Amino acid sequence: MKGLILSGGKGTRLRPITHTAAKQLVPVANKPILFYAIEAMRDAGIREIGIIIGDTGPEVRAAVGDGSAWGVAITYLPQEAPLGLAHAVKISEEFMAGEPFVMYLGDNLIRGGITSFVDEFEASKPDSLILLAKVPNPNQFGVAVLNAEGRVVTLEEKPKEPKSDLALVGVYLFTETIFKAVNAIKPSPRGELEITDAIQWLITEGYRVNPHLVTGWWKDTGKLSDMLEANRIMLDDIKDSVIEGELIGDCEIQGRVVIAKGARLSNCIVRGPAIIGENCKLTNTYVGPYTAINRDVTIANAEIEHSIILEGSSILNINGRITDSLLGKNVEVTRGEIKPKAYRLMLGDNSQFSIV
Ligand code: G1P
Repeated sequence: MKGLILSGGKGTRLRPITHTAAKQLVPVANKPILFYAIEAMRDAGIREIGIIIGDTGPEVRAAVGDGSAWGVAITYLPQEAPLGLAHAVKISEEFMAGEPFVMYLGDNLIRGGITSFVDEFEASKPDSLILLAKVPNPNQFGVAVLNAEGRVVTLEEKPKEPKSDLALVGVYLFTETIFKAVNAIKPSPRGELEITDAIQWLITEGYRVNPHLVTGWWKDTGKLSDMLEANRIMLDDIKDSVIEGELIGDCEIQGRVVIAKGARLSNCIVRGPAIIGENCKLTNTYVGPYTAINRDVTIANAEIEHSIILEGSSILNINGRITDSLLGKNVEVTRGEIKPKAYRLMLGDNSQFSIV
């Protein structure tokens, strides 16, 4: 069994963060989303993984390398343009060399990994196993309709009027028959080769497509609120506090908190679940629940909770509490002492700034 992880795409709903970074490399609980996919595959016994890359390929390569950090072998498969998920499958044919494989969309997160799905696929040997989850907004996903016996009858990509509330989760298991399908289908109205159409082709041609209902937590992390939710879920998985950094003066650590080595906190309150990365400097600061602060961040005289702060940023002397926020790399949020008092901003394209 091999693996295929899709890590192309533009990440338009996460701009401006994705103007300069691949959305799959945005961290939740201080770990890039993409790394959760690699770990899930490794834990399921998969050792050879192809990663589809696009414009952000160099950055993905730099972050993941050859896979030896996880004990897997990574092969990069460049896609010349985002021409659809089925197109990504198409260009992986030579790499797969006839083996069955798991395809995992690099912006999806599944709590609990994929081992049980791989086991089920290997035991029941269908042509494809698709994962489905009940969602309140099926029109934003591929949607499956099952018959009374629980077999998949139709699949539609982002239908205006969904015939069920069962969304296709971004993890699919295939045998080599999927290559017949991706070579047979035509681009959709949005100009992409849709994986939904390829799986529908398998069903129509009489191949066996088994559904598996996912009951645990799953997220397609397209936008800020999804990132914050994913961050909450992954921080909730912290079992015990690990304090490797230094606590100076009057510090109070409550609940499950990870403070990485090289971090220095002085006169701070941290209320978990929260994670503070390597070499952070925090002074007179309150860090509230569901906060992930990446490495090399400086915070002084500030309060922050339910937020994700990327590496190298600084937050200094802020009166109110920062909440529900995502700060990119090397962002500076400060309060000056000069008059007149005003907000002075330099925000990237598509930034959001709100005073609540
Ligand atoms: C893709 C698939 C869709 C699936 C979704 C899951 O959509 O086309 O069928 O339900 O992933 O994350 P996208 O997120 O690329 O729009």
